Amino acid sequence: MDPGKYKILFTEKEIHGRVKELGSGISEDYAGKSLVLVGILKGAFVFLADLMRNFEKLDVEVDFLGILSYGDKTSPSSPPKITKDLSIDIRGRDVLVIEDIIDTGGTLEKLIVHIERKKPASLKICSLIDKRGRMKSDRSIDYVGFEIDRGFLIGYGLDFGEKFRHLKEIRIYEEDS
Ligand code: IMP
Ligand code: MG
Repeated sequence: MDPGKYKILFTEKEIHGRVKELGSGISEDYAGKSLVLVGILKGAFVFLADLMRNFEKLDVEVDFLGILSYGDKTSPSSPPKITKDLSIDIRGRDVLVIEDIIDTGGTLEKLIVHIERKKPASLKICSLIDKRGRMKSDRSIDYVGFEIDRGFLIGYGLDFGEKFRHLKEIRIYEEDS
């Protein structure tokens, strides 16, 4: 895989600006509450780390849920699988799920069912990228960083075959023309 085939879609500066806005919005919405952030491994860890440092006056706890969706392929093949469960008891808590990217929405549906079984007081979803394009399901995402129609992205936590998560910017794959 040649990273040169990926052109910059969102710069480091654009990402930080948008993450700051999301952080302020979430802080306002949850003002005075105690929030459990649930990061979806592995892709969301970079976004989560930046997002929570933009919270103002929020009481926050952090946990992670491991879900394997793509393996090392660029399209979903088998149903998503839970690989690591939560360690915080979220019964009666306000939970905000942090995702990197929503594509078919299969991973999201799986994790919502899993988390709702634990009876949180509330459950909202925040995704850095919504890639559902025109195929949008009726599931609305409470906080979205960027919307795109199609393309495979890497960087800022997003991988291809476990690589490129460290890139500061988000890049998109370009087919040969
Ligand atoms: P979904 O189940 O089809 O919504 O896929 C969601 C998961 O697939 C995300 O949490 C990512 O881990 C992975 N994924 C989807 N699109 C991309 C992409 O463009 N780049 C990297 N990973 C992706
Ligand atoms: Mg993911």
